[in-house]
Amino acid sequence: MSDQTTYPVPAAWAKRTRIDEAAAAKLYGRSLADPGTYWLEQARRLDWIKRPEIAGDWSFDKADFHIRWFADGKLNASANCVDRHARTHPDRVAIIWEPDDPAEPPRRYTYAQLRDEVCRFANVLKAAGAKKGDRVTLYLPMIPEAAFALLACARIGAIHSVVFAGFSPEALAGRIQDCDSSIVVTADEGRRGGKRVPLKANVDAAAAHAPSLKRVIVVKATGADVPMQAGRDDWYRDLAEGVPTTCTPEPMGAEDPLFILYTSGSTGKPKGVLHSTGGYLLWAAVTHELVFDYRPGQVYWCAADIGWVTGHSYIVYGPLANGATTLMYEGVPNWPDASRIWQVVDRHKVEILYTAPTALRALMKEGDGHVQATSRASLKLLGTVGEPINPEAWRWYHEIVGGGRCPIVDTWWQTETGGALISPLPGATPLKPGSATKPLPGVDPQIVDSEGIVQQGAASGNLVIARSWPGQMRTVWGDHQRFFETYFSTFPGKYTTGDGARRDEDGYYWITGRVDDVINVSGHRMGTAEVESALVLHPQVAEAAVVGMPHDVKGQGIYAYVTLNANETGDETLRKALKDWVRREIGPIATPDAIQFAPGLPKTRSGKIMRRILRKIAEGEVDALGDTSTLADPAVVDDLVANRVG
Ligand code: WT7
Repeated sequence: MSDQTTYPVPAAWAKRTRIDEAAAAKLYGRSLADPGTYWLEQARRLDWIKRPEIAGDWSFDKADFHIRWFADGKLNASANCVDRHARTHPDRVAIIWEPDDPAEPPRRYTYAQLRDEVCRFANVLKAAGAKKGDRVTLYLPMIPEAAFALLACARIGAIHSVVFAGFSPEALAGRIQDCDSSIVVTADEGRRGGKRVPLKANVDAAAAHAPSLKRVIVVKATGADVPMQAGRDDWYRDLAEGVPTTCTPEPMGAEDPLFILYTSGSTGKPKGVLHSTGGYLLWAAVTHELVFDYRPGQVYWCAADIGWVTGHSYIVYGPLANGATTLMYEGVPNWPDASRIWQVVDRHKVEILYTAPTALRALMKEGDGHVQATSRASLKLLGTVGEPINPEAWRWYHEIVGGGRCPIVDTWWQTETGGALISPLPGATPLKPGSATKPLPGVDPQIVDSEGIVQQGAASGNLVIARSWPGQMRTVWGDHQRFFETYFSTFPGKYTTGDGARRDEDGYYWITGRVDDVINVSGHRMGTAEVESALVLHPQVAEAAVVGMPHDVKGQGIYAYVTLNANETGDETLRKALKDWVRREIGPIATPDAIQFAPGLPKTRSGKIMRRILRKIAEGEVDALGDTSTLADPAVVDDLVANRVG
């Protein structure tokens, strides 16, 4: 896995950088030595209604558990992302929107236009009854209205909860109910890679299981004919007619919630990760500028979806807080063909491109010709996120895509962290392919063994963060106890990331992947428990156990062991039916890649499934199963090995 080559900062970068290696080390040292001063200084980059005088105020200890940043400050996130730039640079392009179909023209919104759109949207939400603290669910395709809606919620102090448009009606209903949201904003349909996604129909189906839902606001995106329920559903266009394009931003406490975003855990249903207004916004802004060395005027493209945290922090909040020009792409990387990303880069003269290793691996398979057919001369910096990048994909990105001249920032972070925590700074950090390199200012990572003993120097173990940072999540919506138990009880006094990592002799971090029952499919988190619950809902299934398996494009695939009810037999038809079933229950990203019918699962005498064994079999490492003598019935293992799907 590890690649010995180190790539120094390119000469052109060394010349123009604002922060070189020595300055980066100094900045980092200062951020940890005097965090209060450092963070209050950083906070000045935001426009505060009341500037804070306190920075971090937190304790990870059970008895006194609390996390607060800038608690005496007041601000509004939408005013920071929109109004202040509309005042100073009204004609600067804030959002470039590139549609799914390359034959359609792109759209551009200046900061002045963005201000009008956000205000209009905010007034529509207000008229629909949304108030400060209310939860508004957004189930939208990658259209400009998605960004307007986020910022409109922020403007009136409503808490947005974005549900990725690839999730099923069931998954949507669960997320609407969990945060007791009464308004959903959606579109008639979404478009991705030339295909239509029936978003409004999904909302209709979800509504049956979501009694809290009272109003549905529908953006006309494709013009599809969708049924509208009188008294509940309205077209955004109708509601927006004649609505003023001014709306005073709601003064928010820095600790007031900005948004909820659901993410998978190792157990139970998805958690509503809650982020605050001040700390989150500052983290998104600071890291966007540092990691991407962002300079005004540059066209920046984060090719994620707003349905994930990457889209929140690095399409909307971070770039817009910095007055950047952010590109939003409606489609997928490989449609109409594998040149699409590079064509978009050329069309809009993108200088900074941020994407996921899974997309790179998929495009790499299509051959270099699709890349070489384009210029990409505008590119200066490349970024990746979501999973460890294999050195082969790293080198392809570096050589073929970036022509060897663009540094790659491999950013390690999580939904919970709000923004990047470990990442190179492009003008300062020599790169090692596959390593996220070093912690950003304010981040204090440690490697601990299973007993929680802190390891010094070169070491492997569990990655924890020893102190709070402003962008840290504040709670699990509706379950503060679960927040503490999940992240702070395993290694008391520290934030547990759930990732394993190695630190090398140069202090570089190499993320080795999740140490819990979370699978990382194409850079998206899937809890094994969620897929298992979906499978056992099927009438022919008695029991299911799900683990990750290596997958050459997705990073990890989903491998499901399924025990059928007595008298049922597993065949190809049932396999396909079960895959479709999970796809319908959760969404396409949860579709199992392999299903093995298993007469029995390996269990201890107390009935606990030994996942370690299931993982090894799924990985094909059948000679490394370890001790199976503690199993209630060791013979089941022979059957599992013999009938492995692969
Ligand atoms: C998990 C978090 C960060 C936004 C997208 C995913 C893995 C993320 C990297 C990276 C190695 C990475 C970790 C982490 N991960 N970035 N650069 N190198 N692994 O957010 O869905 O909350 O998933 O993604 O395992 O825990 P998420």
